[in-house]
Amino acid sequence: MYKRLLLATDGSAHAARAAEAAIGLMKELPGAEMTIIHVSDEAPSRSELMQAGLDMKAVLEADAHKAIEETERRFQQAEVPFTLKVAFGNPADVIVEWSQKEHADMIIIGSRGLNAVSEVIMGSVSRKVLHHANCPVLVVKR
Ligand SMILES: Nc1ncnc2c1ncn2[C@@H]1O[C@H](COP(=O)(O)OP(=O)(O)OP(=O)(O)O)[C@@H](O)[C@H]1O
Ligand SMILES: [Mg+2]
Repeated sequence: MYKRLLLATDGSAHAARAAEAAIGLMKELPGAEMTIIHVSDEAPSRSELMQAGLDMKAVLEADAHKAIEETERRFQQAEVPFTLKVAFGNPADVIVEWSQKEHADMIIIGSRGLNAVSEVIMGSVSRKVLHHANCPVLVVKR
């Protein structure tokens, strides 16, 4: 039933807990595939782009590796293979679009993210994903 899992991460402590849940699920679901998605919501700077020979994907990938290094390391340590998907845009829109296009069976996401300053239970990205996704969403609270 759950074959194609999608972990959304911004590299925050909350998302790290979602990553642990994702690793645990992968261990219990033989044959399942994991995609980790990280969406940049800031356009790369001009100098970054120039340095990369105008290769937007390379810049996004470098930024993603920086932001979610620890998560990638945890997956490697746990020997759970994954595919990294990087994109630029509105995080919730990109996450939902990708999940639909690639027929994800479950989205795993933290309840809050990098901006967890207020007392609100869910951040705007997790709220929007939960609202618009057409597959089960695991919101990891703690
Ligand atoms: N840019 C992103 N790329 C991938 N996943 C993301 C991104 N931003 C947030 N997420 C996912 O959504 C979860 C909740 O983060 P969210 O951004 O909604 O909360 P927040 O940062 O506390 O609040 P807000 O951003 O609304 O001010 C994160 O734990 C992560 O799983
Ligand atoms: Mg956020």
